[in-house]
Amino acid sequence: MKSIIVLFALIVISAGLTAKEEEKIKEFAKECRTSSGIEREKLEKLRNGDIEDDPKVKDFISCLFKKLSLQKSDGNIDQDIFKSKLSSKLTEAEKETIINDCINLKGSNDSETAFLLYKCYRSKTPSHNADLLV
Ligand SMILES: *[C@@H]1O[C@H](CO)[C@@H](O)[C@H](O)[C@H]1NC(C)=O
Repeated sequence: MKSIIVLFALIVISAGLTAKEEEKIKEFAKECRTSSGIEREKLEKLRNGDIEDDPKVKDFISCLFKKLSLQKSDGNIDQDIFKSKLSSKLTEAEKETIINDCINLKGSNDSETAFLLYKCYRSKTPSHNADLLV
């Protein structure tokens, strides 16, 4: 499960996750794994930054975004929440790039939107892939 928990740590951590928050994310990830039907190997790839253009991957990301309130039920990104959850490990410049380039991306449906945003986010923060394990 560790790989799944840490997957979104980069987004979720602002000043470090509490045990309770970690527990909650673990639970969310489990639920989204079930609802999306994503395979373990695809999750592993996702964590490593190899973000596959795959419907299950997209559904998984969108599911998690919604549970974390990053994506609203109408499919739009809650920009204020998203910004507030950007990791404190990111530099101001990185945060600005994400906000300028990624946050307004819109796909043809909820899963596409979450996927585009997550992909953009990861592409702007490649040097932080290692932080996902923290
Ligand atoms: C979202 O759109 C994509 C591309 O059109 C499609 O393949 C996918 O099934 C859709 N997902 C949902 C959850 O509707």
